Amino acid sequence: MHPLIRPRRNRKNNLVRHWRSETKWCRADLVYPVFLIEGSKQKQGISSLPGQYRWSLDELLPLAEKSLKMGVQAWALFPAIEKALKNPLASEAINPHGLICRALGELKKRFPELTLITDIALDPYSSDGHDGLVEDGNVLNDKSVDILAQMALLHAQSGADIVAPSDMMDGRVLAIRETLEENNFHNTQIISYCAKYASAFYGPFREALDSAPKSGDKKTYQMDPANKKEALLEMELDQSEGADILMVKPALAYLDIIHEIKEQSLLPIAAYNVSGEYAMIKAAAEKGWLDEKKAIAETLLSIKRAGADIIFTYFALDEGIDSL
Ligand code: PBG
Repeated sequence: MHPLIRPRRNRKNNLVRHWRSETKWCRADLVYPVFLIEGSKQKQGISSLPGQYRWSLDELLPLAEKSLKMGVQAWALFPAIEKALKNPLASEAINPHGLICRALGELKKRFPELTLITDIALDPYSSDGHDGLVEDGNVLNDKSVDILAQMALLHAQSGADIVAPSDMMDGRVLAIRETLEENNFHNTQIISYCAKYASAFYGPFREALDSAPKSGDKKTYQMDPANKKEALLEMELDQSEGADILMVKPALAYLDIIHEIKEQSLLPIAAYNVSGEYAMIKAAAEKGWLDEKKAIAETLLSIKRAGADIIFTYFALDEGIDSL
């Protein structure tokens, strides 16, 4: 007896494999996270993120050209703030002449077609290293939200196309949306980190910004990795508060959450392939333990297959990983 149905027929060459392929991604799906630093001619390596740098503004201009040429049309900006400027009130977060605002102005002027996304959270600016203000060891919700809304408005005024609250305070999407509307920023999008888990995979990012919490952890605001229903609650809230795009973070240990939120929501879904996920592949490749480019392509494909429309990834500008 011969099998009549042979799935292998649809795998016999590149072209039919392409026809059979259910998931594809392209560079326009990717958002490149970029670390900023003061000064000029700076391109500082980050030991836990090989291949990623803290860039001064002048160095960013050729990088933006390269990114656009490759089809990567959106950046997520993260400023590395000097220690001397960090304080308990995170006041540098709302300095209109701060690093992030200058970067937005410069980049928008030179590259209007580059979509600029900023992170809305206080950790890079706070001497406590928390996403909100800390009082008596507690991370305050409502006072933090007031600052986050001011910060989002400032970023929109400085040239941000999209603001991305990553702080997980309650009610911040509504506060940001209302503030933007009241100030006539009707078209500024909000990508809300709606299901952001208290994860070990943020380690290298915190090294990049020297932003690790000085005491305690982030478990009173970031989510318990055990939970899926809680992610759906956050999804419903962020949608009703006026988010345009919902984000799940990290990506790889949370593919089921990406899938679930994609099924349940009518909004586009983003996933953040975070620093630890990048570092794992780079470290294994450095040791010669896996084929780096294939592992990257497979990783991005899996996040897309799970349901992400948009992927934030440090791999965005890596060569030779395209699926097509
Ligand atoms: C800050 C923020 C973090 C990341 C993005 N925005 C770190 C954290 O929450 O501690 C992590 C990104 C990454 O690991 O690549 N609110």
